[in-house]
Amino acid sequence: MSAPKKLFIKTYGCQMNVYDSERMAEALGTKGYEQTTDADQADMILLNTCHIREKAAEKMYSELGRLKQFKLAKPEMKFAVAGCVAQAEGGEIIERQPMVDLVVGPQSYHRLPKMADAIDRGEKAIDTDFPEEDKFEELKDRPKARRAPSAFLTVQEGCDKFCTFCVVPYTRGAEVSRPVDRILREARELVERGVAEINLLGQNVNAYHGEGPDGDWTLAQLIREMATIEGLERIRFTTSHPRDMEQDLIDAHGDCAKLMPYLHLPVQSGSDKILKAMNRGHTREEYFALIKRIRDVRPDLLLSGDFIVGFPGETEEDFMDTMDLVEQVGFGQAYSFKYSTRPGTPAAERAQVDEDVKSERLQRLQALLGKQQKAAQDAMVGRETTVLFEKQGRDPGQLIGKSENLHAVHAFADKSLIGTVRRVRVIKSLTNSLTGELI
Ligand code: SAH
Ligand code: SF4
Ligand code: F3S
Repeated sequence: MSAPKKLFIKTYGCQMNVYDSERMAEALGTKGYEQTTDADQADMILLNTCHIREKAAEKMYSELGRLKQFKLAKPEMKFAVAGCVAQAEGGEIIERQPMVDLVVGPQSYHRLPKMADAIDRGEKAIDTDFPEEDKFEELKDRPKARRAPSAFLTVQEGCDKFCTFCVVPYTRGAEVSRPVDRILREARELVERGVAEINLLGQNVNAYHGEGPDGDWTLAQLIREMATIEGLERIRFTTSHPRDMEQDLIDAHGDCAKLMPYLHLPVQSGSDKILKAMNRGHTREEYFALIKRIRDVRPDLLLSGDFIVGFPGETEEDFMDTMDLVEQVGFGQAYSFKYSTRPGTPAAERAQVDEDVKSERLQRLQALLGKQQKAAQDAMVGRETTVLFEKQGRDPGQLIGKSENLHAVHAFADKSLIGTVRRVRVIKSLTNSLTGELI
């Protein structure tokens, strides 16, 4: 057996890319690759890219430019580009940066072992198909190594919603749900390997409708079944779309003890005119009503959202509707962005909002969201919660974990508690974390 080859992966974008990077590392593991954190030592450098906002492709090319020095020092080094920029640009990447050996899209990376053979023979390998075969099934035998306590598990991919600003339906393809038995098998394997919390992933995870033993199952059905797995302590899911938030999933938040009280439910804008122009498929009043139904069953649920400011046609009044929605709803966590023109999407063709106006609105929105985030964190002081300890902290004797509401929590605790869920009393709120003590 030859010495293991070293693989360096850099991941951009969403959690699905994080999951995909793990799976790509496993796929290349079958070809003798082991992961390294030193890019200059690598035999292969893989960039797993994101295309969601402008300049993503430019960033990738400049990153490749920076990495070129390593190739000069080590000419046999291979370069691979995966993810959503790979899907969008395909072979053009190699035309522009001939140092790249391999380009693989998010739906075809189970073919990486074959592609790795091809580049070893000195060929270029490009695959951006949306193949018939199920990539997860091709990759089903995950190595049995011990895992970190919290893991991602992709259950649904792609998007049919076509929001007018978004590239995901083009880079990830149509909505596809994985069958129930395969997801449960993967979940059990993760638990056997030390995982205590599973975060179910999908671009529209609550649109999940995978083949079950008796017809298609909803996400709520899948969660309830998963909750029966012994040793699995916590379940989360992300990202949800307000349009697919059905009553059975809301109910699960009320009565499924393993389902954590945290919900990422992006609304993007508080203006009906803009929501319509974005093709989001709901009004602000419908969003308010939905939040009320959710909070009725789970008052302590922490709500998280995504916002876009400066969408084409957004006036000051529309923006104030967003501010007002945020005031009324109250978000414990949020991600906000300036609208970014994506070629090929409908909104790119419309009259654009001035860049300065976008920046100024983003600042005001982030100030408000920041205040709400801080208030939600501060409100935890004096309360009890459970924490899944994930790793050692920077201070000796401290562990770091996540609360039920996904707040980072530090506490003095023995490292044997890593991977376990413990009751903690919150005693202090810091900038981006809480301090707790074991009860
Ligand atoms: N499927 C999820 C979002 C996936 S993309 C949903 O519908 O909620 C993640 C976030 O990126 C989006 O919620 C949006 O806020 C942001 N985003 C997507 N396209 C964007 C664009 N063109 N400009 C700015 N932000 C964008
Ligand atoms: Fe993009 Fe809209 Fe689909 Fe979310 S629902 S991935 S924002 S098109
Ligand atoms: Fe980015 Fe693709 Fe995810 S565009 S946000 S990596 S689905």
